[in-house]
Amino acid sequence: MRSPLLLTCLLTLLTLPALADNHDREGRHRYRQVPPNASYRAECASCHMAYPPGMLPAASWRRMMGGLDRHFGENASLDAATRDDITAFLVLWSAENTNPKYRRKYAENPASPPLRITSTVWFRHKHDEIRPDVFRRKGVGSAANCVACHRQAERGDFDDDSVRIPPR
Ligand code: HEC
Ligand code: HEC
Repeated sequence: MRSPLLLTCLLTLLTLPALADNHDREGRHRYRQVPPNASYRAECASCHMAYPPGMLPAASWRRMMGGLDRHFGENASLDAATRDDITAFLVLWSAENTNPKYRRKYAENPASPPLRITSTVWFRHKHDEIRPDVFRRKGVGSAANCVACHRQAERGDFDDDSVRIPPR
């Protein structure tokens, strides 16, 4: 009589490593990390933090990388080889490939891929309790300034216990 239960326990244990795959060794979500890549660090983290590739779908990265000369009012152009390298890196680690919930829960319309992490379904879901004016506080500047609130964001840590919203 006890063996079906045992079998269930055993099967659960066997599937755990598969689930753990979506997390690194410290148990952090892979899609919130920036995998090592020297060009990406050098070219895409001088004006703002190196955003984790897993926070946008591939179509968004392709669209963004195709228009770097008009990048949010800045010219962030690169030579073709560097641009293609970084695009391949971003696409490889994009939301589809690193966030197991992307397709089921946070999928974007492929016909109009968002250029901002902060306008994705995923971001809005995670921040649905924050009033828009909080993002406009002096100490924040804009929602894109993750580090203002997520003090450990550069290390891929966006956990609740390391969030502190600037009071003004
Ligand atoms: C010359 C400065 C500069 C460089 C270089 C640059 N960016 Fe940006 N980026 C900006 C500015 C300015 C914004 C808008 C920030 C804001 O709205 O607060 C932005 C916004 C973004 C956003 C959207 C943030 C949001 O609102 O969710 C992403 C993603 C992004 N950049 C990726 C990249 C990538 C990838 C590269 C390298 C190819 C890059 N950036 C290089 C200036 C730069
Ligand atoms: C004004 C402050 C603020 C800014 C700016 C901000 N966040 Fe957040 N973020 C929060 C708060 C507060 C929470 C919710 C914590 C909770 O669950 O109660 C949160 C939640 C999250 C979560 C979910 C945490 C978890 O484990 O449940 C992620 C991931 C996240 N933010 C990523 C980002 C990214 C990426 C950016 C920048 C593009 C950003 N945030 C910008 C305040 C901010």
